[in-house]
Amino acid sequence: MNIALLASGKGSNVKNILSFFKENNDGNKICLIATNNPNSPVRDYALGYQTPSVLFTKQELNKEGYLIDLMESYQIDLVVLAGFLLMIPIDFIKHFKGKIINIHPSLLPKYGGKGMYGDHVHRAVLKNNESTSGITFHYVNENYDEGEIISQFEVSLSQEETLASLKHKIDVLEKTHYPLVISSISNE
Ligand code: GRF
Repeated sequence: MNIALLASGKGSNVKNILSFFKENNDGNKICLIATNNPNSPVRDYALGYQTPSVLFTKQELNKEGYLIDLMESYQIDLVVLAGFLLMIPIDFIKHFKGKIINIHPSLLPKYGGKGMYGDHVHRAVLKNNESTSGITFHYVNENYDEGEIISQFEVSLSQEETLASLKHKIDVLEKTHYPLVISSISNE
């Protein structure tokens, strides 16, 4: 499958996925990296892996047909969101139904929805003294973090858990599982 990665931030998942598929070429190929953030390092990561990248504005993203045309121009079969913070336009979700996946750093439906990303999620988990947290992989639909769940992976939290220790536990889960989840979907 031809895969596109969309990101808005640090891009550590993009970097990890690029590296994984460079070594584990099981018939899948990262064909495009796209971002809305000119300051995200993901386009540099793409360069390092000879992978095309595109920077688009929020206005372009929301232009009817823009994302459909972009993905078709790279013959993309699967769109992978990795810290992409904008809403995916509804025309694209309908056109690419069942072929857009996302990762969320909590056990959805808990701690999901608009505004729940990054540290906001972890701070809410700690504030509620949760004994577990984790990550959720899900298909993308027209509502934030509400698409069909693909898989979830849990970690236990200690009484002394800090923001830094929780973020590290979540990061290890993300880096371990995202490439494998993508592989399993693209080999379905
Ligand atoms: C990750 O925590 C992921 O769960 C969420 O956004 C963050 C992306 O981090 N969707 P990075 O930009 O890949 O470092």
